[in-house]
Amino acid sequence: MAIQGKKILICVSGGIAAYKINYLIRDFVKKGAEVQVLMTPSAENFVSKLTLSTLSKNPVFSDFYSENGTWNNHVELALWADVILMAPCTANTLGKMVHGICNNLVIATYMSAKCPVFIAPAMDLDMYQHPSTKQNLELAEDFGHFIIPAETGELASGLVGQGRMAEPETISKTIEEFFSSDKNSKNLAGKTVLITAGPTYEAIDPVRFIGNHSSGKMGFSIAEEAANRGAKVILISGPSAQQTNHPNIEIHRVTSAREMFDQVFNFYENADIAIASAAVADYAPKEIAKEKIKKSEDELTIELIKNPDILKTMGERKTKQFLVGFALETQNEEENAKGKLEKKNLDMIVLNSLRDEGAGFKNDTNKIKIFTKTELKEFPLKTKNAVAQDILNFVEEQILK
Ligand code: CTP
Repeated sequence: MAIQGKKILICVSGGIAAYKINYLIRDFVKKGAEVQVLMTPSAENFVSKLTLSTLSKNPVFSDFYSENGTWNNHVELALWADVILMAPCTANTLGKMVHGICNNLVIATYMSAKCPVFIAPAMDLDMYQHPSTKQNLELAEDFGHFIIPAETGELASGLVGQGRMAEPETISKTIEEFFSSDKNSKNLAGKTVLITAGPTYEAIDPVRFIGNHSSGKMGFSIAEEAANRGAKVILISGPSAQQTNHPNIEIHRVTSAREMFDQVFNFYENADIAIASAAVADYAPKEIAKEKIKKSEDELTIELIKNPDILKTMGERKTKQFLVGFALETQNEEENAKGKLEKKNLDMIVLNSLRDEGAGFKNDTNKIKIFTKTELKEFPLKTKNAVAQDILNFVEEQILK
């Protein structure tokens, strides 16, 4: 069983759904997992420590200090866990997690963790619909956490709607699938993966630049996924709000295409796989004005010169690297993508479709087609995290052939 021998840390916060955690602990323990439980102080109003510790066969803590005066080491607990499950996760706990408000043992432990985190929110329907909850769940996803969405049904308030914590069976199944899925395979252990991500900004003067709408999400998702599969990841990112603190990811932030070029070739030689997901500006201003350009004439001409093509140069300097490029086309999609595969000496190209709603730069979802010289595979619209899995599954199939 996928869960056998796994270490699961359950963090319970103060919601009526806390009573369901008893069933979940029993289920995990029956399946051979080691379970430890932490509670927020307010969770103690909903479920007893004695019940949770009897079921989990471990002491349960809710404070930094135990009654006998011993310190409860949140770092040790965080590093012990193979996964952390925040369930039920109240609006309050969710808000503290994503904004670093560390005023209890649960949040201190969560913030010390390096393992995957699952969140099973539970709250009243209006709270679940509130923009702050929505934004906080999005932030949690951006951190790379997995959300187990609340279900629809009767709520403690008597209202009916979405907000009820997912049933223990659903949570258990999600965790089990995680342990048995590709996400947890270590097929890329020992490999170095070089990834470019985000846009580049090409300075016009000290305050202006030419840029594009790339969010960097796709590249960061691929980086996290490769790191989860055991790879050492070198991530060269243009200006992007994306963050990662994955221990297997070494991140280098750059601004312009030139800087990205230089950083890429600091690492390319030793890379086994290189994935160019950055939206690199093709041109940059020929000269950067030293002072802010004042408005004067009705027209302003900025002379541009071509930037180096990073991916093409990687293709020219290829020795052992499995090289993956991206293409974003508005016409003759497949023909142009295949042309780039050939021209840039790639092993694989990922075609982003701009035609499909939900796909492309700013969205959290993407729709892709993958080409090699001999194969074509088309995928449905998915979240960028799921697309990252598809891309790396395909890469693994090719390199492990
Ligand atoms: N790319 C790169 N360096 C550049 C331009 C693009 O590394 N200066 C990489 C991108 O990261 C992407 C691929 O090349 O993986 C395709 O980029 P795209 O802009 O679509 O293709 P171009 O070759 O620039 O062709 P065109 O703009 O004419 O479509």
